[in-house]
Amino acid sequence: MAIVSSTSGRKPPRRPEALVDPQSAPEEVVSRPEEKLRPQRLDDYIGQSELKQVLGIAVEAALGRGDALDHVLLYGPPGLGKTTMAMVLAEEMGVQCKVTSAPALERPRDIVGLLVNLQPRDLLFIDEIHRLSRVAEELLYPAMEDRRLDLTVGKGSTARTRSLDLPTFTLVGATTRAGSLSSPLRDRFGLIQRLEFYGQDDLEAIVERTAGLIGVTLTPEALSSIAASCRGTPRIANRLLRRVRDVASVRGSGVSAGAIDQALVGEALSLHRVDHRGLDASDRRLLQLLIDHHGGGPVGLETLAAALGDDPVTLETVVEPFLLQQGLLMRTPRGRMVTDAARSHLAEAA
Ligand SMILES: Nc1ncnc2c1ncn2[C@@H]1O[C@H](COP(=O)(O)OP(=O)(O)OP(=O)(O)O)[C@@H](O)[C@H]1O
Ligand SMILES: [Mg+2]
Repeated sequence: MAIVSSTSGRKPPRRPEALVDPQSAPEEVVSRPEEKLRPQRLDDYIGQSELKQVLGIAVEAALGRGDALDHVLLYGPPGLGKTTMAMVLAEEMGVQCKVTSAPALERPRDIVGLLVNLQPRDLLFIDEIHRLSRVAEELLYPAMEDRRLDLTVGKGSTARTRSLDLPTFTLVGATTRAGSLSSPLRDRFGLIQRLEFYGQDDLEAIVERTAGLIGVTLTPEALSSIAASCRGTPRIANRLLRRVRDVASVRGSGVSAGAIDQALVGEALSLHRVDHRGLDASDRRLLQLLIDHHGGGPVGLETLAAALGDDPVTLETVVEPFLLQQGLLMRTPRGRMVTDAARSHLAEAA
């Protein structure tokens, strides 16, 4: 699978109005540290068993028919593996994956450029798909449904519509905010899948896999303590592991001197203010604010965001989902409330 990125790491086009043409752009195999850690195949993708089962069947059926995979919408909190899954799907289908993100498709020509350059069965990955502009969305509707691109040529009274046939392709959209997608767009996806937070066993497997890839060894206790402290999120697990490795190498132990132990993990976690339940400073600040200033709630999202100096969308999509899943926070029609579990966790941590 070749990954062609139309957004990252490329020099801006010399002419600002140049058509975004991923075919003419130098092909780029992305080499950020996170990329190296991504599982490539469905079998390496840890956890999310329901998601893997559903998509595995869809891939097998599409391959059997010699057809493109149906359009897939992946949603869920950041860092759970949406982008990774899109790339895995391309790999499983044996097709090229073109990667872009909705904010990069602001002008009609951007999305047109991508669509007309698709090869049969290619996978087009659009990240943050809830941020698509109205024009881009309207160009996508017939493209997704009838493999047709409706273009308006000319202006004013001489304007004509031209239809262009497109090859079969798969659109994989990812979003942290499925609720913000317009319903016509959502309805055009054949598969709509939610990614869940990972459980302890899966996270341990993920940490172990990453440790192997970055060449560190951990004691079983150290492994399980990282897994317990990563907010159910592989990206955070990988990030914590790197911070633990930093502490280990500064202390002169661990990395080359045998396995990293739990004491070192504890040191790294407290350095980064992550508690044993995986809550970070902003999680605790939110809960503490609710308790100290609002008697535990209910408090509206906007009020809470203003008090924390945070943006409501980040609060709702990044901070809150894990607290809700952990039963530390509740959403009620009148606003957010802390639970008894949150009170006792904070009292214990203090
Ligand atoms: N199931 C998994 N097994 C192993 N590693 C995983 C898995 N899911 C995610 N990861 C790791 O976590 C990292 C983050 O995943 P990814 O970038 O796919 O998240 P995302 O859902 O696209 O996040 P965002 O919403 O921020 O774009 C990846 O680099 C990958 O190494
Ligand atoms: Mg992503």
